[in-house]
Amino acid sequence: MSEGVDKRIPWVIKYRPKRIAEVVNQEDAKAKFVEWLRKWPNVPKRAALLYGPPGCGKTSLVEAAAHEFGYEIIEMNASDFRRKSDIERIAARAAMSNSLFGAKKKLILLDEVDGIAGREDAGGLEAILHLIKLSPSPIVMTANDPWDQKLRPLREVSEMIQFKRLSKYDVVKVLSTICRKEGLYCEEEALKYIAERSEGDLRSAINDLQAVGEGYGKVTLSLVKELVKPRDREHDPFETLRNIFSARYAWQAKMALSQSQLDYDQAKLWLLENIPNQYTDPEDRARAFEALSKADVYLGRIVKTGDWGLLAYAIDLMTAGVALAARNNPKDKYRWVRYSFPQRLVMLSRTKDVRALRDDIAKLIATHEHISMATAKSEVMPILMVIFRSNPDYAARLAIGLGMSEKMVEYLAGPMKDEVLAYYRKYKEMMQREAMEEAMARTMTTVARETTESTKSTGRGSGRSRRKKEVGTSTSLLSFTKKKS
Ligand SMILES: Nc1ncnc2c1ncn2[C@@H]1O[C@H](COP(=O)(O)OP(=O)(O)O)[C@@H](O)[C@H]1O
Ligand SMILES: [Mg+2]
Repeated sequence: MSEGVDKRIPWVIKYRPKRIAEVVNQEDAKAKFVEWLRKWPNVPKRAALLYGPPGCGKTSLVEAAAHEFGYEIIEMNASDFRRKSDIERIAARAAMSNSLFGAKKKLILLDEVDGIAGREDAGGLEAILHLIKLSPSPIVMTANDPWDQKLRPLREVSEMIQFKRLSKYDVVKVLSTICRKEGLYCEEEALKYIAERSEGDLRSAINDLQAVGEGYGKVTLSLVKELVKPRDREHDPFETLRNIFSARYAWQAKMALSQSQLDYDQAKLWLLENIPNQYTDPEDRARAFEALSKADVYLGRIVKTGDWGLLAYAIDLMTAGVALAARNNPKDKYRWVRYSFPQRLVMLSRTKDVRALRDDIAKLIATHEHISMATAKSEVMPILMVIFRSNPDYAARLAIGLGMSEKMVEYLAGPMKDEVLAYYRKYKEMMQREAMEEAMARTMTTVARETTESTKSTGRGSGRSRRKKEVGTSTSLLSFTKKKS
C-alpha cells in the first residue's frame, strides 16, 4: 500500500517527537534534563550539554521539552559560532524579548557545539562562555563528542547529560510505529535488518525506511537487503575526512570510508589535499603521506594486474594508516579545520568546462560555415582568437552573427573580454530594440490596414519588410558585419 506514503516531508521531520514522552529510551537523560529545565535559573550549572552518538534524540528532546514547557527556541548551529558578534546579537535578542511583557520564554539551542573545538579563533568559544554567564534564558548545547580538551571550559559550566546509543530493539520499535502510521506493509525481519545497519542512529534508520517504503510501497527483507547495502547515511567528503582523521581505531577509519559518498579513488585525492591541513607535525605528516602513497601503489597494481584482492590493503593504508599516523601530535586528529577541495578535481572539472565550451564554439562555426568541427577548431578558432583580441568591435559583431554566448566571447577574447563584451552587449541591445520596433510597427500596420487600405500604408509596409530582411540577414556573419561597418 503506497497511497498513505507522504512523499514530500522527510520522515525524520514528520516523526520527530513532539512530546518528551515520545523520545524513546533515554529515560535518564530525560529526567535529568527536565529537572534542570524546570529549576532554571536556580541550578548549579546555567547551561546544559547534551551529548551522545548521532541520531539518538538529543535535538529532539530539546525541541519536545521546549514545546511542553512553553519555550521558544532560538537556534544556532556550529557554523554560526564563528563570530562573537553573532552570539552577542542572539543574546541581546533573547534578553530583549524576555523582558517584554507577555513574550514567550526563550531557550537558546547551540546545536552540535563540538564543531567549534579546535577552530583557530577562540572567539566563538569565549563568546559562548560569556553568553552562558549573562544569558537571561537557559542555554542548551548538544554534541557528539564533548571530550575535546578545548571544550573543557564549556563542560565546567554545563550540566552534562549523557544520551545512550539506541538499541536495535528501540530502532525497530520506532520504525514499526512509522510503518503503521504510514499504512506501509513491512516485514519484521526487514526492520531488524535496517536497525542493525543503523548502529543505533535512528535518523539514518528512518531515512533507510523511507527510501525503501517510498520507492517500493512495501518494506520486505529482500528489498531491504538489496537497497540498504549502500547506506543512506552516506557522509559527504568533509564528514568523511573528519571521521577518518579522528578515528581512534583502525575499524573506525575504515568504516568512515565505507559510509562515504567518496569512492577510494576520490578519497585518496581528498586525503592527499588535506593531510597537511589536519596534521601539523612534520613526522606525522610524513607517516600519513607514506601510508597514502603505499595505498596508491596498491591501487596502481590493481589496475595493472586486475587483482582486486589488493584493494583491502589499499583501503587499510589510506584509512587506518592515515588515521594512526598522528603519533607526535595526536591532538591534531581532532582539530577542527576547514578542508579544501582537491586541486586535481578542481582542475579537471575546470578543463572539462573549457573543453565543452571549445566544442560548442567549434560546432557553431562548423554549422555556420559548412565545415567540419575539426577544421573549425584547428583553422578558424585560432584566427577568431586573434580577431577577438585585436578588434573588439568587429569581434562583437562576429559573436552576435554566430549566435555566441557571453561565455564563448570571454573564452575567445581572453584578456580583451571586457572590451568585446561591452560591444557585444551594446549590439545585442540595439538588435533587441530594432526587433521591438519592428514588432511594434507590424502591429501598427495591421491596425492601419484594417482601418484603411490606402496606397500609402502599403508603401510603408514594403519599406518595413526591406528592413526586416536586413535584421534577418544580420544573423548571417558576413552581411551583418558589412552592414555595420
Ligand atoms: N530517542 C528517540 N526517540 C524517538 N525518535 C528519535 C530518537 N532519537 C532519534 N529519533 C528520530 O531520529 C531523528 C533524529 O534525531 P535527533 O534528535 O535530531 O538526533 P540527534 O541526537 O543527532 O540530535 C528525529 O527526527 C527522530 O525522528
Ligand atoms: Mg542533533
